[in-house]
Amino acid sequence: MKMTGSLNILTLMVVVVSLLSLAAGNSTVVVTHENFQGLINTNELVLLSFYTDWCRFSKILEPIFEEAAAKIHQKFPENGRVILGKVNCDKEEMLADQFDIIKYPTLKIIRNGLISNQEYRGQRSVEAFVQFVENEMADPIKEFHSIEELKNVEVGDGTVIGYYISKDHVEYDTYRRVASLMRNECRFLVGFGDLTKDLRPPVKNALIFRGDPPVPNPKISYSEYLGNMTSFTNLTSWIDKKCIALVREVTFDNAEELSEEGLPFVLLFYNKNDLGPIQEFKKAIHSQLENETRVNFLTAEGKLFKHPLYHMGKSLEDLPVIAIDSFMHMYVFPRFEDIHQPGILQKFIDDLFNGALHFNYHLALEAHEKSESTIDPSQFPPVAHESKFKELRPSKHRYTLVNRTRDEL
Ligand SMILES: *[C@@H]1O[C@H](CO)[C@@H](O)[C@H](O)[C@H]1NC(C)=O
Ligand SMILES: *[C@@H]1O[C@H](CO)[C@@H](O)[C@H](O)[C@H]1NC(C)=O
Ligand SMILES: *[C@@H]1O[C@H](CO)[C@@H](O)[C@H](O)[C@H]1NC(C)=O
Ligand SMILES: *[C@@H]1O[C@H](CO)[C@@H](O)[C@H](O)[C@H]1NC(C)=O
Ligand SMILES: *[C@@H]1O[C@H](CO)[C@@H](O)[C@H](O)[C@H]1NC(C)=O
Repeated sequence: MKMTGSLNILTLMVVVVSLLSLAAGNSTVVVTHENFQGLINTNELVLLSFYTDWCRFSKILEPIFEEAAAKIHQKFPENGRVILGKVNCDKEEMLADQFDIIKYPTLKIIRNGLISNQEYRGQRSVEAFVQFVENEMADPIKEFHSIEELKNVEVGDGTVIGYYISKDHVEYDTYRRVASLMRNECRFLVGFGDLTKDLRPPVKNALIFRGDPPVPNPKISYSEYLGNMTSFTNLTSWIDKKCIALVREVTFDNAEELSEEGLPFVLLFYNKNDLGPIQEFKKAIHSQLENETRVNFLTAEGKLFKHPLYHMGKSLEDLPVIAIDSFMHMYVFPRFEDIHQPGILQKFIDDLFNGALHFNYHLALEAHEKSESTIDPSQFPPVAHESKFKELRPSKHRYTLVNRTRDEL
């Protein structure tokens, strides 16, 4: 009872704070370490701008964010749905630390009180913010109405499919909340009632994960959730394991986010007219390197990323090409075919971490500078080049970057 009472007071305070700032002509909420917890606990979605007064990108963003907040408030006027808030990082160091802020402005997303490392990285325009929030507020689960519809659905990297007795089942509510949290990691489908009665045990619900079909291990591509159907944490951790793929596709849209994970990239450059090497690469990673957590395994469409390819002296004719980008250097894996031989790609990655790749790079460079024709450059493979993917990290043309030391390779 006491808990409920204090929660109500908290809600009331939040409402008063929101109303006060609205009355003052600001649609955003000023977020401090004092009201933070209350705000995230009482709203489905919170979009927070971490800014400083001296950052010019923050200054440019401010009126846009304000106008977006006003528009969003009109579209979602109900209490407890969505708010846009701002955190002055010079005053709120604790919050800035908690969110690991290393650039201004950083736009963080909090859903149902849970802090994820997800960021808004889209265009900074009123329309784009409104569009983003509308997408985030939409139901993440797509309902299918016939088995035919389910069969024809494109699986992509992974889909969770629910077969539920009815929409108002308490277990469906858990699925809905988890899907809402994981909406950007996976695709979610559901069917109800008689339609699904042959696909689940009688009077029981079922949840299935269907992965990328060409993944060789059928356990990865098709599995049933056997855990507690009403446990938010158990279901979240299952979906997290299933949906976050070991090998992901890098594009210009997600490169910034991937590079901020801070791990070197192991990249397969492929030709989009020949997707075979992608499956070979995935198969090799799944069978030999599934426990390798020091790098990010990525596939990159060669034409889209021809700039780093050319930079390594490769062209589209040379595809498939495997390379490591450590954000200092790029190292070419000598022969694609060797990925089928257990241990070779692992050694290449080990050589990045024990410094051998870097050492060879300097040897080759020295040999080149001295023009010692007696040294055969093929003695010093693999050849290294300056990193190109570091250019895709958060740009100083978009953010004020603050320094944080990170071990460099
Ligand atoms: C809106 O908020 C800013 C602080 O971010 C404040 O400086 C400004 O005075 C507020 N505007 C109004 C009309 O209250
Ligand atoms: C399932 O999880 C819910 C919520 O965490 C919990 O209340 C319930 O006791 C769990 N059931 C079993 C059988 O563990
Ligand atoms: C489910 O969650 C409980 C409590 O959080 C945990 O002890 C248990 O190991 C989890 N079960 C599975 C299968 O993850
Ligand atoms: C990864 O680790 C698990 C658990 O330690 C082990 O069973 C599995 O064989 C390992 N996979 C590879 C490819 O080494
Ligand atoms: C970050 O570090 C670089 C090099 O170490 C330095 O030149 C730059 O001034 C630093 N920037 C800030 C904001 O401290």
